[in-house]
Amino acid sequence: MANSLYSIVATFESPDTIIKAAKAVRDAGYKKFDVHTPFPVHGMDKAMSLPETKLGFVTLAAAILGAVGMISFASWVAAVDYPLVIGGKPYWSWPAFVPVTYEIAVLASVVLTVVIMIVFFFKFPNISHPLHDTPYMKKVSSDKFGVSIQAQDELFNEKKVRELLQSLGGNVDAVYYSDEFINFKPQLFEPKFLLLLAGIAMASSAGGYLLWNKILFLPPYDWMMEQQKVKPQMVSNFYSDKFAMRQPVEGTVARGYIPYPYKDKPDDAGKYLVNPLLPTKQVLELGKKKFLTFCSPCHGNFGQGDSRLRGQFPNPPSLHSDKVRGWPDGNIYHVITNGQNVMPSYQYQVSREERWAIILYIRTLQRALNAKESDLQ
Ligand code: HEC
Repeated sequence: MANSLYSIVATFESPDTIIKAAKAVRDAGYKKFDVHTPFPVHGMDKAMSLPETKLGFVTLAAAILGAVGMISFASWVAAVDYPLVIGGKPYWSWPAFVPVTYEIAVLASVVLTVVIMIVFFFKFPNISHPLHDTPYMKKVSSDKFGVSIQAQDELFNEKKVRELLQSLGGNVDAVYYSDEFINFKPQLFEPKFLLLLAGIAMASSAGGYLLWNKILFLPPYDWMMEQQKVKPQMVSNFYSDKFAMRQPVEGTVARGYIPYPYKDKPDDAGKYLVNPLLPTKQVLELGKKKFLTFCSPCHGNFGQGDSRLRGQFPNPPSLHSDKVRGWPDGNIYHVITNGQNVMPSYQYQVSREERWAIILYIRTLQRALNAKESDLQ
Protein backbone atom coordinates (compact mmCIF):
# COMPACT_ATOMS: atom_id res chain seq x y z
CA MET A 1 0.00 0.00 0.00
CA ALA A 2 1.98 2.95 -1.29
CA ASN A 3 1.05 6.23 0.27
CA SER A 4 1.41 9.55 -1.49
CA LEU A 5 1.30 13.00 -0.01
CA TYR A 6 -2.00 14.78 -0.30
CA SER A 7 -1.25 17.98 1.57
CA ILE A 8 0.67 19.67 4.33
CA VAL A 9 -1.70 20.88 7.02
CA ALA A 10 -1.32 23.20 9.96
CA THR A 11 -3.66 23.98 12.82
CA PHE A 12 -4.00 27.32 14.59
CA GLU A 13 -5.62 28.39 17.81
CA SER A 14 -7.90 31.29 16.92
CA PRO A 15 -9.89 32.86 14.08
CA ASP A 16 -7.47 35.78 13.96
CA THR A 17 -4.42 33.60 13.43
CA ILE A 18 -6.15 31.52 10.75
CA ILE A 19 -7.11 34.67 8.83
CA LYS A 20 -3.49 35.83 9.03
CA ALA A 21 -2.28 32.39 7.91
CA ALA A 22 -4.73 32.29 4.99
CA LYS A 23 -3.53 35.69 3.82
CA ALA A 24 0.11 34.64 4.09
CA VAL A 25 -0.51 31.41 2.14
CA ARG A 26 -2.38 33.35 -0.53
CA ASP A 27 0.37 35.99 -0.71
CA ALA A 28 2.99 33.26 -1.06
CA GLY A 29 1.24 32.40 -4.33
CA TYR A 30 -0.42 29.07 -3.49
CA LYS A 31 -3.65 28.33 -5.33
CA LYS A 32 -4.61 24.83 -4.23
CA PHE A 33 -5.17 25.31 -0.55
CA ASP A 34 -8.17 25.23 1.70
CA VAL A 35 -9.10 26.40 5.16
CA HIS A 36 -11.18 24.43 7.65
CA THR A 37 -12.80 25.99 10.69
CA PRO A 38 -15.30 24.73 13.24
CA PHE A 39 -17.58 27.69 12.49
CA PRO A 40 -17.79 30.28 9.69
CA VAL A 41 -15.06 32.90 10.07
CA HIS A 42 -15.95 36.33 8.74
CA GLY A 43 -13.68 37.72 6.03
CA MET A 44 -12.28 34.30 5.13
CA ASP A 45 -13.37 34.43 1.49
CA LYS A 46 -11.49 37.73 1.09
CA ALA A 47 -8.43 36.50 2.97
CA MET A 48 -8.30 33.46 0.66
CA SER A 49 -9.16 35.58 -2.42
CA LEU A 50 -11.89 33.14 -3.33
CA PRO A 51 -13.60 33.83 -6.64
CA GLU A 52 -17.34 34.35 -6.51
CA THR A 53 -19.33 31.13 -6.76
CA LYS A 54 -20.86 30.21 -10.08
CA LEU A 55 -23.83 28.60 -8.38
CA GLY A 56 -25.86 31.79 -8.89
CA PHE A 57 -25.71 31.38 -12.66
CA VAL A 58 -26.89 27.81 -12.27
CA THR A 59 -29.89 29.05 -10.32
CA LEU A 60 -30.64 31.73 -12.93
CA ALA A 61 -30.43 29.22 -15.75
CA ALA A 62 -32.67 26.78 -13.87
CA ALA A 63 -35.25 29.51 -13.22
CA ILE A 64 -35.30 30.50 -16.90
CA LEU A 65 -35.60 26.87 -17.88
CA GLY A 66 -38.52 26.39 -15.48
CA ALA A 67 -40.30 29.55 -16.65
CA VAL A 68 -39.91 28.84 -20.35
CA GLY A 69 -40.88 25.21 -19.85
CA MET A 70 -44.00 26.12 -17.90
CA ILE A 71 -45.15 28.83 -20.35
CA SER A 72 -44.67 26.40 -23.23
CA PHE A 73 -46.51 23.63 -21.45
CA ALA A 74 -49.41 25.88 -20.39
CA SER A 75 -49.64 27.33 -23.90
CA TRP A 76 -49.73 23.87 -25.42
CA VAL A 77 -52.41 22.71 -22.99
CA ALA A 78 -54.61 25.80 -23.27
CA ALA A 79 -54.25 26.57 -26.96
CA VAL A 80 -53.43 23.28 -28.68
CA ASP A 81 -54.28 20.14 -26.79
CA TYR A 82 -57.43 21.15 -24.93
CA PRO A 83 -58.72 24.54 -26.04
CA LEU A 84 -61.55 25.69 -23.78
CA VAL A 85 -63.36 29.01 -23.80
CA ILE A 86 -63.14 30.29 -20.24
CA GLY A 87 -65.09 33.45 -19.47
CA GLY A 88 -64.93 34.50 -23.13
CA LYS A 89 -61.16 34.96 -22.99
CA PRO A 90 -58.85 33.98 -25.87
CA TYR A 91 -57.33 30.49 -25.69
CA TRP A 92 -53.85 31.87 -25.20
CA SER A 93 -54.58 34.13 -22.26
CA TRP A 94 -51.14 34.67 -20.79
CA PRO A 95 -52.10 36.39 -17.50
CA ALA A 96 -53.55 33.05 -16.39
CA PHE A 97 -50.10 31.47 -16.80
CA VAL A 98 -48.27 33.96 -14.57
CA PRO A 99 -48.84 32.32 -11.18
CA VAL A 100 -47.91 28.78 -12.30
CA THR A 101 -44.96 30.05 -14.29
CA TYR A 102 -43.68 31.91 -11.28
CA GLU A 103 -44.11 28.90 -9.04
CA ILE A 104 -42.46 26.49 -11.45
CA ALA A 105 -39.55 28.88 -11.98
CA VAL A 106 -38.98 28.98 -8.21
CA LEU A 107 -39.37 25.21 -7.90
CA ALA A 108 -37.01 24.46 -10.79
CA SER A 109 -34.36 26.87 -9.54
CA VAL A 110 -34.43 25.44 -6.02
CA VAL A 111 -34.42 21.78 -7.00
CA LEU A 112 -31.92 22.09 -9.85
CA THR A 113 -29.57 24.24 -7.76
CA VAL A 114 -29.39 21.57 -5.10
CA VAL A 115 -29.04 18.69 -7.58
CA ILE A 116 -26.39 20.43 -9.70
CA MET A 117 -24.51 21.55 -6.61
CA ILE A 118 -24.37 18.02 -5.27
CA VAL A 119 -23.61 16.27 -8.56
CA PHE A 120 -21.32 18.74 -10.37
CA PHE A 121 -19.87 20.92 -7.64
CA PHE A 122 -19.46 18.22 -4.99
CA LYS A 123 -18.89 15.43 -7.55
CA PHE A 124 -21.48 13.05 -6.12
CA PRO A 125 -21.47 10.03 -5.99
CA ASN A 126 -17.82 10.39 -5.07
CA ILE A 127 -18.17 10.97 -1.37
CA SER A 128 -14.59 10.37 -0.24
CA HIS A 129 -11.87 12.90 0.40
CA PRO A 130 -8.30 12.41 1.64
CA LEU A 131 -8.92 14.70 4.58
CA HIS A 132 -11.77 12.60 5.87
CA ASP A 133 -11.04 10.61 9.01
CA THR A 134 -7.71 12.28 9.67
CA PRO A 135 -6.59 13.67 13.04
CA TYR A 136 -6.47 17.05 11.29
CA MET A 137 -10.19 16.93 10.36
CA LYS A 138 -11.08 15.87 13.91
CA LYS A 139 -9.27 18.90 15.31
CA VAL A 140 -10.68 21.46 12.87
CA SER A 141 -14.20 20.25 13.35
CA SER A 142 -13.88 20.74 17.09
CA ASP A 143 -11.81 23.69 18.34
CA LYS A 144 -8.84 24.24 15.99
CA PHE A 145 -8.54 26.28 12.80
CA GLY A 146 -6.62 24.62 9.98
CA VAL A 147 -5.13 25.31 6.60
CA SER A 148 -4.19 22.62 4.08
CA ILE A 149 -1.86 23.21 1.12
CA GLN A 150 -2.17 20.52 -1.54
CA ALA A 151 0.81 18.74 -3.01
CA GLN A 152 -0.70 19.32 -6.43
CA ASP A 153 -0.08 23.06 -6.25
CA GLU A 154 2.41 24.28 -8.87
CA LEU A 155 4.58 26.02 -6.27
CA PHE A 156 4.49 23.07 -3.89
CA ASN A 157 7.72 22.20 -2.18
CA GLU A 158 7.34 20.24 1.00
CA LYS A 159 10.20 21.86 2.85
CA LYS A 160 9.18 25.41 1.96
CA VAL A 161 5.57 24.81 2.81
CA ARG A 162 6.49 23.37 6.20
CA GLU A 163 8.72 26.36 6.89
CA LEU A 164 6.05 28.83 5.89
CA LEU A 165 3.40 27.22 8.08
CA GLN A 166 5.78 26.90 11.00
CA SER A 167 6.80 30.55 10.71
CA LEU A 168 3.10 31.44 10.97
CA GLY A 169 2.95 29.61 14.29
CA GLY A 170 0.99 26.60 13.07
CA ASN A 171 1.11 23.07 14.31
CA VAL A 172 2.26 21.35 11.10
CA ASP A 173 1.41 17.83 9.94
CA ALA A 174 1.12 15.92 6.66
CA VAL A 175 -1.82 14.03 5.16
CA TYR A 176 -1.28 11.00 2.93
CA TYR A 177 -3.64 8.97 0.87
CA SER A 178 -3.37 5.43 -0.34
CA ASP A 179 -3.57 4.12 -3.90
CA GLU A 180 -6.56 2.19 -2.77
CA PHE A 181 -8.17 5.49 -1.96
CA ILE A 182 -7.40 7.00 -5.37
CA ASN A 183 -8.62 3.97 -7.20
CA PHE A 184 -11.78 3.74 -5.16
CA LYS A 185 -14.84 3.84 -7.38
CA PRO A 186 -18.23 4.15 -5.72
CA GLN A 187 -20.13 1.05 -6.74
CA LEU A 188 -23.56 2.61 -7.01
CA PHE A 189 -24.35 0.98 -10.33
CA GLU A 190 -23.15 -2.50 -9.50
CA PRO A 191 -25.82 -4.97 -10.64
CA LYS A 192 -25.88 -6.49 -7.16
CA PHE A 193 -26.58 -3.16 -5.55
CA LEU A 194 -29.23 -2.23 -8.11
CA LEU A 195 -30.85 -5.61 -7.58
CA LEU A 196 -30.89 -5.00 -3.86
CA LEU A 197 -32.55 -1.60 -4.40
CA ALA A 198 -35.16 -3.12 -6.71
CA GLY A 199 -35.76 -5.91 -4.21
CA ILE A 200 -36.31 -3.46 -1.36
CA ALA A 201 -38.65 -1.35 -3.50
CA MET A 202 -40.69 -4.37 -4.52
CA ALA A 203 -40.84 -5.85 -1.05
CA SER A 204 -41.92 -2.59 0.56
CA SER A 205 -44.56 -1.83 -2.06
CA ALA A 206 -45.91 -5.36 -1.94
CA GLY A 207 -46.01 -5.18 1.86
CA GLY A 208 -47.74 -1.82 1.74
CA TYR A 209 -50.25 -3.07 -0.80
CA LEU A 210 -51.04 -6.16 1.24
CA LEU A 211 -51.41 -4.21 4.45
CA TRP A 212 -53.46 -1.25 3.24
CA ASN A 213 -55.50 -2.89 0.50
CA LYS A 214 -55.99 -6.43 1.77
CA ILE A 215 -55.29 -7.05 5.45
CA LEU A 216 -57.06 -3.95 6.69
CA PHE A 217 -60.16 -4.98 4.75
CA LEU A 218 -60.36 -8.34 6.52
CA PRO A 219 -62.25 -8.90 9.75
CA PRO A 220 -61.95 -7.51 12.34
CA TYR A 221 -60.79 -4.31 10.64
CA ASP A 222 -63.90 -3.98 8.47
CA TRP A 223 -66.23 -2.96 11.28
CA MET A 224 -67.39 0.21 9.62
CA MET A 225 -67.66 -1.19 6.11
CA GLU A 226 -70.44 -3.70 6.52
CA GLN A 227 -73.38 -1.90 8.05
CA GLN A 228 -76.94 -3.03 8.45
CA LYS A 229 -78.55 -0.10 6.74
CA VAL A 230 -80.09 1.00 3.50
CA LYS A 231 -79.00 3.93 1.40
CA PRO A 232 -81.21 6.26 -0.64
CA GLN A 233 -82.30 4.73 -3.96
CA MET A 234 -81.46 1.21 -2.76
CA VAL A 235 -83.86 -1.69 -3.19
CA SER A 236 -85.25 -3.06 0.04
CA ASN A 237 -86.88 -6.46 0.33
CA PHE A 238 -88.25 -5.53 3.69
CA TYR A 239 -91.13 -3.48 2.27
CA SER A 240 -93.63 -4.79 -0.19
CA ASP A 241 -93.09 -1.86 -2.58
CA LYS A 242 -89.29 -2.56 -2.55
CA PHE A 243 -88.43 1.10 -1.89
CA ALA A 244 -85.74 1.68 0.74
CA MET A 245 -86.73 5.34 0.93
CA ARG A 246 -89.97 5.81 2.89
CA GLN A 247 -92.54 8.56 2.92
CA PRO A 248 -93.16 10.05 6.36
CA VAL A 249 -96.18 8.60 8.12
CA GLU A 250 -99.25 10.70 7.49
CA GLY A 251 -99.59 13.51 9.97
CA THR A 252 -95.87 13.61 10.73
CA VAL A 253 -94.73 17.00 12.00
CA ALA A 254 -91.11 18.02 11.50
CA ARG A 255 -89.21 19.20 14.54
CA GLY A 256 -89.44 22.95 15.09
CA TYR A 257 -92.23 23.25 12.51
CA ILE A 258 -95.70 24.27 13.55
CA PRO A 259 -98.28 23.35 10.95
CA TYR A 260 -100.73 26.01 9.77
CA PRO A 261 -104.16 24.37 9.80
CA TYR A 262 -106.07 27.10 7.95
CA LYS A 263 -104.49 26.88 4.53
CA ASP A 264 -107.21 27.80 2.01
CA LYS A 265 -109.58 28.48 4.90
CA PRO A 266 -109.35 32.24 5.54
CA ASP A 267 -112.72 32.29 7.25
CA ASP A 268 -111.66 29.67 9.80
CA ALA A 269 -108.45 31.63 10.40
CA GLY A 270 -110.54 34.70 11.12
CA LYS A 271 -112.84 32.72 13.37
CA TYR A 272 -110.35 30.72 15.44
CA LEU A 273 -107.07 32.63 15.54
CA VAL A 274 -106.61 35.07 18.39
CA ASN A 275 -103.90 37.70 18.55
CA PRO A 276 -101.72 36.66 21.52
CA LEU A 277 -100.04 40.07 21.81
CA LEU A 278 -101.13 43.31 23.47
CA PRO A 279 -100.51 46.67 21.79
CA THR A 280 -97.71 47.72 24.09
CA LYS A 281 -95.12 50.26 23.00
CA GLN A 282 -92.56 47.50 22.41
CA VAL A 283 -94.92 45.39 20.33
CA LEU A 284 -96.01 48.36 18.23
CA GLU A 285 -92.39 49.33 17.61
CA LEU A 286 -91.64 45.80 16.44
CA GLY A 287 -94.76 45.84 14.25
CA LYS A 288 -93.83 49.19 12.73
CA LYS A 289 -90.30 48.05 11.99
CA LYS A 290 -91.47 44.86 10.27
CA PHE A 291 -94.35 46.61 8.46
CA LEU A 292 -91.97 49.22 7.02
CA THR A 293 -89.55 46.50 5.95
CA PHE A 294 -91.87 43.87 4.50
CA CYS A 295 -95.21 45.49 3.75
CA SER A 296 -94.65 49.17 2.98
CA PRO A 297 -92.96 48.69 -0.43
CA CYS A 298 -96.35 47.63 -1.83
CA HIS A 299 -98.86 48.87 0.71
CA GLY A 300 -97.24 52.27 1.36
CA ASN A 301 -95.88 53.59 4.63
CA PHE A 302 -99.39 54.11 6.04
CA GLY A 303 -101.08 51.18 4.34
CA GLN A 304 -102.99 53.33 1.84
CA GLY A 305 -101.98 51.24 -1.17
CA ASP A 306 -99.59 53.90 -2.48
CA SER A 307 -96.95 51.43 -3.64
CA ARG A 308 -93.36 52.55 -4.14
CA LEU A 309 -92.86 50.00 -6.90
CA ARG A 310 -93.91 52.37 -9.75
CA GLY A 311 -96.22 49.94 -11.42
CA GLN A 312 -93.78 47.02 -11.39
CA PHE A 313 -96.24 45.12 -9.22
CA PRO A 314 -100.01 45.46 -9.08
CA ASN A 315 -100.99 48.10 -6.52
CA PRO A 316 -102.69 46.52 -3.51
CA PRO A 317 -105.95 47.82 -2.11
CA SER A 318 -105.87 50.15 0.88
CA LEU A 319 -105.66 48.54 4.30
CA HIS A 320 -108.12 51.19 5.51
CA SER A 321 -111.08 49.74 3.62
CA ASP A 322 -114.18 48.84 5.63
CA LYS A 323 -113.42 45.26 4.69
CA VAL A 324 -109.99 45.07 6.29
CA ARG A 325 -111.04 47.23 9.23
CA GLY A 326 -113.91 44.85 9.81
CA TRP A 327 -111.74 41.73 9.52
CA PRO A 328 -110.79 39.88 12.67
CA ASP A 329 -107.01 39.79 13.23
CA GLY A 330 -106.95 36.17 12.09
CA ASN A 331 -107.87 37.17 8.52
CA ILE A 332 -104.93 39.52 8.17
CA TYR A 333 -102.75 36.86 9.77
CA HIS A 334 -103.98 34.47 7.14
CA VAL A 335 -103.06 36.85 4.29
CA ILE A 336 -99.52 37.34 5.63
CA THR A 337 -99.07 33.61 6.22
CA ASN A 338 -100.70 32.32 3.08
CA GLY A 339 -100.62 35.25 0.68
CA GLN A 340 -103.70 36.30 -1.26
CA ASN A 341 -103.96 36.11 -5.03
CA VAL A 342 -100.86 37.99 -6.33
CA MET A 343 -99.60 38.87 -2.86
CA PRO A 344 -97.04 36.21 -1.93
CA SER A 345 -96.81 34.46 1.43
CA TYR A 346 -94.50 36.05 3.98
CA GLN A 347 -94.37 33.10 6.39
CA TYR A 348 -90.64 32.52 5.87
CA GLN A 349 -89.61 36.17 6.18
CA VAL A 350 -91.85 37.17 9.06
CA SER A 351 -92.07 35.09 12.24
CA ARG A 352 -95.42 34.32 13.86
CA GLU A 353 -94.90 36.81 16.63
CA GLU A 354 -93.86 39.50 14.16
CA ARG A 355 -97.00 38.85 12.12
CA TRP A 356 -99.19 39.53 15.15
CA ALA A 357 -97.17 42.66 15.94
CA ILE A 358 -97.61 43.90 12.36
CA ILE A 359 -101.36 43.39 12.68
CA LEU A 360 -101.47 45.49 15.86
CA TYR A 361 -99.52 48.18 14.02
CA ILE A 362 -101.97 48.06 11.10
CA ARG A 363 -104.81 48.44 13.64
CA THR A 364 -103.06 51.54 14.97
CA LEU A 365 -102.76 52.98 11.46
CA GLN A 366 -106.43 52.23 10.80
CA ARG A 367 -107.50 53.91 14.01
CA ALA A 368 -105.31 56.92 13.23
CA LEU A 369 -106.90 57.45 9.83
CA ASN A 370 -110.42 56.73 10.99
CA ALA A 371 -110.46 58.09 14.49
CA LYS A 372 -113.65 57.77 16.45
CA GLU A 373 -115.32 60.80 17.89
CA SER A 374 -114.20 59.65 21.33
CA ASP A 375 -110.55 59.50 20.25
CA LEU A 376 -110.60 63.19 19.43
CA GLN A 377 -111.84 64.40 22.77
C1 HEC B 1 -95.16 42.57 -3.25
C2 HEC B 1 -96.15 43.55 -2.83
C3 HEC B 1 -96.81 43.30 -1.51
C4 HEC B 1 -96.22 43.18 -0.28
C5 HEC B 1 -94.73 43.28 0.04
C6 HEC B 1 -97.29 42.98 0.66
N1 HEC B 1 -98.46 42.95 0.04
FE1 HEC B 1 -100.27 42.75 0.92
N2 HEC B 1 -101.12 42.79 -0.87
C7 HEC B 1 -100.52 43.01 -2.08
C8 HEC B 1 -101.48 42.96 -3.13
C9 HEC B 1 -101.17 43.16 -4.60
C10 HEC B 1 -102.69 42.67 -2.53
C11 HEC B 1 -104.02 42.47 -3.22
C12 HEC B 1 -104.14 40.97 -3.45
C13 HEC B 1 -105.47 40.62 -4.11
O1 HEC B 1 -105.60 40.93 -5.28
O2 HEC B 1 -106.26 39.96 -3.43
C14 HEC B 1 -102.44 42.58 -1.13
C15 HEC B 1 -103.40 42.32 -0.16
C16 HEC B 1 -103.21 42.42 1.17
C17 HEC B 1 -104.28 42.33 2.15
C18 HEC B 1 -105.72 42.09 1.86
C19 HEC B 1 -106.32 43.37 1.44
C20 HEC B 1 -107.71 43.16 0.88
O3 HEC B 1 -108.41 44.16 0.80
O4 HEC B 1 -108.03 42.03 0.49
C21 HEC B 1 -103.68 42.46 3.36
C22 HEC B 1 -104.40 42.45 4.73
C23 HEC B 1 -102.29 42.64 3.15
N3 HEC B 1 -102.05 42.61 1.80
C24 HEC B 1 -101.35 42.78 4.16
C25 HEC B 1 -100.02 42.80 3.92
C26 HEC B 1 -99.04 42.82 4.98
C27 HEC B 1 -99.34 42.84 6.48
C28 HEC B 1 -97.84 42.80 4.39
C29 HEC B 1 -96.48 42.77 5.05
C30 HEC B 1 -96.18 41.56 5.78
C31 HEC B 1 -98.06 42.82 2.94
N4 HEC B 1 -99.37 42.79 2.72
C32 HEC B 1 -97.05 42.81 2.02
C33 HEC B 1 -99.16 43.24 -2.27
C34 HEC B 1 -98.20 43.16 -1.28
